[in-house]
Amino acid sequence: MSEQDTVSFGFEQVTPDEKVDRVKGVFRSVASKYDVMNDFMSAGVHRLWKHDTMNRLNPQPGERHLDVAGGTGELARAFLKLADEAGKRRGDKRIATAIVCDINDAMLEAGKARGDNAEWEGRLDWVCADGSALPYPDRSFDALTISFGIRNFADRVAGLREFKRVLNPGGRLAVLEFSQMTAPMLQKAYDVYSFNVIPEVGKIVTGDRDSYQYLVESIRQFPDQETFKAEIESAGFSNVSVTNFSGGIAALHFGWAI
Ligand SMILES: C[S@@+](CC[C@H](N)C(=O)[O-])C[C@H]1O[C@@H](n2cnc3c(N)ncnc32)[C@H](O)[C@@H]1O
Repeated sequence: MSEQDTVSFGFEQVTPDEKVDRVKGVFRSVASKYDVMNDFMSAGVHRLWKHDTMNRLNPQPGERHLDVAGGTGELARAFLKLADEAGKRRGDKRIATAIVCDINDAMLEAGKARGDNAEWEGRLDWVCADGSALPYPDRSFDALTISFGIRNFADRVAGLREFKRVLNPGGRLAVLEFSQMTAPMLQKAYDVYSFNVIPEVGKIVTGDRDSYQYLVESIRQFPDQETFKAEIESAGFSNVSVTNFSGGIAALHFGWAI
């Protein structure tokens, strides 16, 4: 197997098919504890990053939203809530809708089991599909989000092209992902925390150390902010901007389908 035929799964090189299977295994294993582990790992800070991401997306009444790799549906629910608030402020009664799309049925089931879905009945849909081969026609959505998902794709470029294809002209893309730290002085402390603490906490909370070892390794394999920005532009997005969160631990890439 030549290196061109392989992709990274953490620090290992594997075939694209193997990466898809192993990523499915990771999230099947942690699905039922996924939300609680996120809070433990980041001391709740991931909620602030997501909050800022959704405010930047600025959901509007009547819009169609697709949350790719949406897992338990946090961004989709936030989209509907913010769109309704915007509608109330302007007296616009149009109804926004959202779809949580994820390759892993266990993550979707964990999301559907949450108690806070009832208010979105008929407006929030759950679809099991690969984000790099979306089951939607061209120009189907006004806004597309993906948080902490694209790092897990076997073919990231194919994914970005799909996002562009399914967005309407003028549609917005928000990609929230772990990124590279901008403050070198903090890198050492971050490395110690990532490699020594996160897998152990993962073991205690979810019973699965390896999945959290994959998490920290996959973050190190992900391109830096500027390289990823160039990939998004190559997929056809315009006016792509980068916002670093917590010194680059995470970054929001925001772009327009024009
Ligand atoms: C770290 S979780 C993020 C979940 C959610 N977006 C969040 O921020 O809490 C990553 C998700 O990406 C999904 N995923 C990985 N590869 C995917 C793919 N090719 N297509 C769709 N979803 C994928 C996983 O099943 C998992 O639910």
